[in-house]
Amino acid sequence: MAEIFITRKVFRHVIDMLEKEGHTIDINDTDRILPARELVERAHGKAGIVCLLNDRIDSSVMDELPSIKVISNIAVGYDNIDITGATERGIMVTNTPGVLTETTADLAFALLLGAARRIPEADQYTRAGKFKNWQLMQPHMGVDIYEKTLGIVGMGSIGQAVAKRAKKGFDIRVVYYSSSRKESAENEYEAEFVEFDKLLAISDFISIHVPLTENTKHMFSSQEFKKMKHTAILINTARGPVVDESALAEAIKDGQIRGAALDVFEEEPSVHPELMKLKENVVLTPHIGSASIETRLRMAKMAARNMVEGLKGNRPPNLVNENASPF
Ligand code: NAP
Ligand code: GLV
Repeated sequence: MAEIFITRKVFRHVIDMLEKEGHTIDINDTDRILPARELVERAHGKAGIVCLLNDRIDSSVMDELPSIKVISNIAVGYDNIDITGATERGIMVTNTPGVLTETTADLAFALLLGAARRIPEADQYTRAGKFKNWQLMQPHMGVDIYEKTLGIVGMGSIGQAVAKRAKKGFDIRVVYYSSSRKESAENEYEAEFVEFDKLLAISDFISIHVPLTENTKHMFSSQEFKKMKHTAILINTARGPVVDESALAEAIKDGQIRGAALDVFEEEPSVHPELMKLKENVVLTPHIGSASIETRLRMAKMAARNMVEGLKGNRPPNLVNENASPF
């Protein structure tokens, strides 16, 4: 029986699952992100923290929380948590992989379609009463999607789910760049491994699916945009800082690439003001990759299960830092 702090409003199921195990819950039952000082005060003396991807839990926070044994992140990405710091302190960190893969791939593909066919813009046009008649030279002519080349950067779970949609649904040629070769994707989706620079040069669409790490921060900046096709569209559903937003806005304004569709941003919830101005070439969504009712519920339950197992002294099903164990 332990005390757990939940940093934000969650589905009732999470609280029920934890209370059923005899744990005591303290929850910030709002949508307000707690500043570090407040998070420390609320989590002090507790054994577990259930948190969201925009709760920053770094070493200075952990230093003040020596009783914490498990941090359960309700997200697959865990760049908000200092994993090395947690491992050094014997804190187990867990995430929610797999259950959001298809949903996030759907959103990545929706963004690709939306940007290529200019759907948000056409929607605004229709709502504004500007649809007077069918025109051959339609003001919202987009570009074809089928039979084009999609470059996937980071061929993990979501990258492969996007490859499946591209190949099986749209007969798109898939090329990819990733830390390691993925034979199953090569066989199932005819995905071709290429070096990063080649992917940049030959792709009509580029979809980013790498985690945010020291190596992937600003993986896409001015140099990369210069190597891309002038007609290319960049889709980012991974993490904002993988893309240098200021350089992206410049590249689109200069016509180095056609446009972008972004679900994630460098300084969420802010969006770079220059990207905001690019209404014809940029599609923006507020970090909704996994935001279907079914998937968010699955993520929340998975996070609760991770916490329950971790606090029992078992290896949680989705342990991120294998070497950490407080028991
Ligand atoms: P995953 O299965 O771990 O896939 C990540 C892939 O990136 C792996 O294949 C990995 O290679 C590759 N990779 C890592 N570092 C790389 C580098 N420097 N260069 C090239 N490839 C690299 O993770 P996932 O479940 O697909 O999720 C990917 C990311 O999407 C998450 O980390 C999260 O940030 C983001 N995400 C966003 C949303 C949203 O709401 N927008 C939803 C879910 C996830 P290896 O296979 O060799 O390790
Ligand atoms: C969402 O961005 C996640 O990492 O789950």
